[in-house]
Amino acid sequence: MKKTAATKAKKCTTKPTASNQYDWFTEARFGMFIHWGLYAIPANNEWIRNHKEISNEDYQKYFDNFNPDMLDAKEWARMAKEAGMKYFVITTKHHEGFCLWDSKHTDYKATNTPAKRDLLKEIVDAFRAEGIKIGFYYSLLDWHHPEFPIDPIHPLRNHPDALEMNKTRDVRKYAKYMRNQVTELLTNYGKIDIMWFDFSYPKDMYRGMPGKGRNDWESEKIVALVKKLSPETIINNRLDLPEYKSIVTPEQFQPEFPPRNADGTIAVWEGCQTFSGSWGYARDEETWKSEKQCIEMLIKHVARGGNLIMNVGPTARGYFDYRAVERLNDFARWMKYHSRSIYGCTMAPEEFVEPNGARYTWNPKTKRLYVHITDWPLARLHLSGLAGKISIAQFLHDGSEINFIENAKKAWNNEDLPEGTVTLRLPIKHPNVAIPVVELVLK
Ligand code: GLC
Repeated sequence: MKKTAATKAKKCTTKPTASNQYDWFTEARFGMFIHWGLYAIPANNEWIRNHKEISNEDYQKYFDNFNPDMLDAKEWARMAKEAGMKYFVITTKHHEGFCLWDSKHTDYKATNTPAKRDLLKEIVDAFRAEGIKIGFYYSLLDWHHPEFPIDPIHPLRNHPDALEMNKTRDVRKYAKYMRNQVTELLTNYGKIDIMWFDFSYPKDMYRGMPGKGRNDWESEKIVALVKKLSPETIINNRLDLPEYKSIVTPEQFQPEFPPRNADGTIAVWEGCQTFSGSWGYARDEETWKSEKQCIEMLIKHVARGGNLIMNVGPTARGYFDYRAVERLNDFARWMKYHSRSIYGCTMAPEEFVEPNGARYTWNPKTKRLYVHITDWPLARLHLSGLAGKISIAQFLHDGSEINFIENAKKAWNNEDLPEGTVTLRLPIKHPNVAIPVVELVLK
């Protein structure tokens, strides 16, 4: 294509291209993360090369034997859709450097393994066919690339000649390699909705080897490239560009308050979480979260104005581990009846204060308030500040009415109730859903 001023990379600005660029994303609220690479074979966390300080040579056996003969990408996509997930983000390349697609810029790719094909294409096609939006995770780190300087978290950090080896490694060449690959990812796979870059550690230092950040990645150029090739693609915040507003990505914890941008405004955010403690398939990992914990996580993210992206680490043979399938089914069962309290919802206006043992979400368009009762009370639940405002209260799972009393002066244990309190009269028996929700239609 002929280069015109318009097609030239624009300078990185501090604002997303359009204010509504994130609309689909905040409407969606729930996505699937997929961490899949050679590390599925050692099956002991995607950081295994770092943890065990494994050289390229010793890691080669996983490349030579990567053969996901049971991969059924349509089945993955179907499970994501049934769980209620509206987008997915897959590791096109993780820190190990292995590429799931047929990149022209490396031999370290799926096409050269016994899998012998572009796995990314197969997966993207399957998810797109289910109407699920597409996100690409791309690791800024690369423990396999010969030009990537050894640093504090590189597998060779303790090699006696590490500093010497770094003399022939040129991070500029590596940064160019990344831009070439990002170009491929944004040109050969149709519309990509999210680019998810991971991660920066500029302040680290070990044996005289510094960590890496925006100057190493040439982050501004990466952002400009994404904007040029695919202006609507949204980006996450791990490129070490704090002034650039992008998706804030808390990981493995639940923020109690909505995260903020550098300028103090409330951020668009997405918590990324795992079913167990690892992102890549970890066979012997035992810290799997329960059905209730998982569903609560989704609710708590939305109740603080965020998205949840839940990770699956497929096995080396290409299928989802039975424990992940169980949790996905749990989500599917709950979302079938409760997605209305998730999609398009956010934190409730400040005047509505959550009672103990419950979380609110709020749909600003329909003006409905959702009470997620995580701690089932005995018969009554007092909600402050809602008297005179509710036209009907119903369980979301079956539409059955919940009666309520307004401005009861005393709670039944004789405590004073503040003016404006609404008391829901709940059945004694916990409904047959993991977390019951009462939908309040406001006047
Ligand atoms: C971290 C880890 C990584 C994982 C990611 C997901 O930065 O390095 O293994 O992919 O978080 O958020």
